[in-house]
Amino acid sequence: MKRFTDLAEFTREQVLELVALARRLETQPDPHALAGKVLGLLFMNPSLRTLASFQAGMARLGGDSLVITPGQSTWQFETRDGAVMTGAAAEHIREGLPVLSSYCDALGIRAFAAGEDLEDDLADRRFNAMAALVDRPLINLESAINHPCQALADWKTLDELPGSGRRKFVLSWVSHPKALPLAVPAATVHMAAMRGMDVVVLRPEGYALPKAIMDKARSAAVASGGSVAETADRAEALAGAHVVYAKEWGSTRNYGDEAADQAQRRSLKHWCLRNDWLTDAADDCRVMHCLPVRRNSAIADEVLDGPRSLVLRQAYNRMPAQMAVLYRLLKS
Ligand code: CP
Repeated sequence: MKRFTDLAEFTREQVLELVALARRLETQPDPHALAGKVLGLLFMNPSLRTLASFQAGMARLGGDSLVITPGQSTWQFETRDGAVMTGAAAEHIREGLPVLSSYCDALGIRAFAAGEDLEDDLADRRFNAMAALVDRPLINLESAINHPCQALADWKTLDELPGSGRRKFVLSWVSHPKALPLAVPAATVHMAAMRGMDVVVLRPEGYALPKAIMDKARSAAVASGGSVAETADRAEALAGAHVVYAKEWGSTRNYGDEAADQAQRRSLKHWCLRNDWLTDAADDCRVMHCLPVRRNSAIADEVLDGPRSLVLRQAYNRMPAQMAVLYRLLKS
């Protein structure tokens, strides 16, 4: 394995093998597997889970890691081609990334969407420009349009649930004070489709996921025997749901227009997942969210603190899932 940047670059069998390896590393630790190896972690945006779980996972495999947060502990990075660097950024990624690569055996990069131009973000231009400067095994720690580490951990979390047969997976938009990126919803709808689930994207008007994201998920569903649908009808979507994955994202109708997005979301504050949403869901319906979550804005306390919530298990599973990725990337 040379890189882990998109679950779609792997077959379903390869993903299952990674999840099985994650389970094995949980039950049979291999504390010297990556002795002498160094993982570099570049965070252009904040993190709790991704940063901590990669550092903990690398340590548990006997390796070491370094974290770079430009503008805080290190020089601020300029990412634009052709920029005249008279502003705050003292270092261009054209030097910064090759330098970092030269110290490490693998590199992870987090670079969120700029949130200005939908086509740019769908093409993941910022992340891809950075990836092109790295000559080491590369991990996507969340880009404009993907979060494969979250998706792999969520796959493992879903595997841990009882029940078999067709499972209804609802990715539901929930409220947030600001427009958030499409990375997690895009990765999640693809993951659930690739896993063979019956996926329904529930979102208000104006928040439909872009066609490119839905088409990619539908292709995965065709290969796995699952299905992908979308609706704005909450009752229809949640009836019989086995899993409700709550996630906030920005308006796609008003992408890059903050004022219009704000005006639109002011009327959507009731999209906060409460227990009464789940009245007609399956008895064993579980609730997922990648975290961080705004309590009582996106999901009510009664759900997060109740028996349906899987959010802490999802966060825990980031570590073994990423240990499997590190093992495949770095174990000689
Ligand atoms: N879910 C997730 O990626 O969390 P962080 O942003 O804290 O890393």
